[in-house]
Amino acid sequence: MTPRRGASEATGDVRGATAVPGASWEAHADLVVVGGGVAGLTAARTASLRGLRVLTVSKGGPTDTATQYAQGGIAVVAPENDSVAGHVADTVEAGAGLCDEAAVRSIVEGGPAAVAALTDLGAVFDLGRDGAVSRTREGGHSVRRIIHAGGDATGAEVQRALNAAGLPVLFGAAAARVVTDERGVTGLIVLSDNGVDGTAVGVVHAPAVLLATGGLGQLYSCSTNPPGATADGVALALAAGAAVADLEFVQFHPTVLFTPGGVGRRPLVSEAVRGEGARLVDAEGNSVTAGVHPLGDLAPRDVVSRAVADRMRGLGTDHVYLDARHLRGFAERFPTVTASCLAVGIDPAHQLIPVAPAAHYSCGGVVTDVHGRTAVPGLYAAGEAARTGLHGANRLASNSLLEGLVVGERAGAAATERAGVRVEVTDAALPREAAADRSALQSAMTTHASVVRDGDGLAIAAATLAEAPDRVPATTADLEDAALTETASALVLAARARTETRGAHTRRDHPEPAESWRRSIEVRRGASGALETPDLTLTGAR
Ligand code: SIN
Repeated sequence: MTPRRGASEATGDVRGATAVPGASWEAHADLVVVGGGVAGLTAARTASLRGLRVLTVSKGGPTDTATQYAQGGIAVVAPENDSVAGHVADTVEAGAGLCDEAAVRSIVEGGPAAVAALTDLGAVFDLGRDGAVSRTREGGHSVRRIIHAGGDATGAEVQRALNAAGLPVLFGAAAARVVTDERGVTGLIVLSDNGVDGTAVGVVHAPAVLLATGGLGQLYSCSTNPPGATADGVALALAAGAAVADLEFVQFHPTVLFTPGGVGRRPLVSEAVRGEGARLVDAEGNSVTAGVHPLGDLAPRDVVSRAVADRMRGLGTDHVYLDARHLRGFAERFPTVTASCLAVGIDPAHQLIPVAPAAHYSCGGVVTDVHGRTAVPGLYAAGEAARTGLHGANRLASNSLLEGLVVGERAGAAATERAGVRVEVTDAALPREAAADRSALQSAMTTHASVVRDGDGLAIAAATLAEAPDRVPATTADLEDAALTETASALVLAARARTETRGAHTRRDHPEPAESWRRSIEVRRGASGALETPDLTLTGAR
C-alpha cells in the first residue's frame, strides 16, 4: 500500500509489511484524526505543534468536507457592539432549553482567539467599506456578529487556509473500527484505497483517536451535506463504547434551492440572504413567517423550517420562495448562491428563488466535554460529529465553524495527555454490522423522521431499520451503509422516546414542549450490543 500525500512524514514508519493478522499495512502515531474538515485539521495542527506524531485520515479528497460548503460564516463576538453574554443568550434561546450553558459560554469565549489563529494561518475575511471586518446577521442572532469570506463562501476559505497549512493527510482512507482495550484506545483500523485494484486494510497503532467526521445528512434523500456525511463518527463511537446524545435534533435548513425531483446534495441558499433583507413568501406572495415569531424571517431555524413545512402542507406544494429581487449587489455579496441559482435557470435579481427545507446539521453527536473528550480514554470527537452541549435542541446559525475551530484546537491539545501510552493493535478483523439498503433507509427517514414526525411513522422507520441484514464491511460504501443504519436506529430510538415537540424535533402527535423532557437523551450500546437509552424506559414508546 502506498500512502498518499505525506502519511509517512506524519508517522515516520508506515509499513507495507505487517505482523497484524488481516492487515496489509500498519503505521504508528500519537494521534489519529479522522476527517479533514475544520475540526479535524485544526486539531491535527494543534497536536502537531505540540510535538505529537499525527496521522489524519480522510475518506475523500481535500475539499470533500462539509466545511467546504458552509456559506453563512462564523459567529464570533464583535468587540464594539456585542458581548459574550449576548452571544450566549442567543445560543441558549435557539437551543430550546437543552444547551449546556457552561459549554456555550466556554466555546463562545474561545471564538475571538480561534478566529485570530485562523487569520494568522492566512484566512481572509470580508471587509466593509470602513475597512473593518464585515458582519452579517442570521436567524436567532440579536446583532450582526457573523464574519464571512468570499461573500457566501466562508467554509471554502476556512478549508483553503487549513489545507494550505500542509498537514499530512492520508486521503481515500475510511475509518472502520476504533480499537480499545481495558485502558482505552489502542488504535484504528482503516480501509484505504490501495491505488491499484481496490481496498487495503490498514492498522494504525495509536493511543488517541479523534473523530471529526462531520454530519449525517445522508440519512435523508435531500441534504445540504456532501456525499461523505454518513454519520461515521457516531457509529465508530457507539461501537467503541462511547455515548451519543441529542441525535433526534436534526436541523433542517429552511431555504435549500428547490428543483423538481432533486435529490442528494442540494445547494444551500444562505440564511444570510434573509439577514440582508430577503423575504420568505408563498406562491400567493404572502409572508411565510408573519405572526409566527417576533423575529419573523430571522427567527431561529427550527421555527422557520416548521413554518415553511406548515405552509407547504397547507397549500399542498413542495416549495415556497425567497424574494431577494430588491437586494442591491446580490451577485457580488452572494456569488455561490447566485451561481447555484443560475445553474438551474433562476436569476435572483429578477426572479423568486424556489426553496424547501432539507437536512442540514446534526445538533447531537458523540458526547464530549468542551475539550473533545469522550468517556472512553483516548477517544475524542469534535465538530459536527460531537455533542458538546453548545447546540441544545437547535443550533444557532454559524455556531458550527466556531465550535469546530474552538473545540478542534482544544481536542488537539487534550490528546497530548495520551502521549507515551504504549499500545499495540493485534487484530484487524472487522465485525459483521447491520447495513440497510441506502435508498430504502433514506426513503424511510425522509418520510418518517424529517421536519415533522409522529409515533406511528417513527415505528415504521424503526421496523425498516430492524430488517437490515448483517454483513462484514469490505468497502467504504459498506462502512457508510452500516454507519447510517446504526445512526438512524439511534436517532429513531431517541425520537420515539421524546414525546414532545422541542427545537428541531417536532412531533405532530405531541405538539407542545414538556418540562419533564427538558433533558438530553443518551444512547449507547448495551452489553448485548443492542442500542439502549440507559436512563429511560422505552417499552411501548409512541
Ligand atoms: C447558512 O448560511 O444559512 C448556513 C449557516 C449555518 O448553517 O450555520
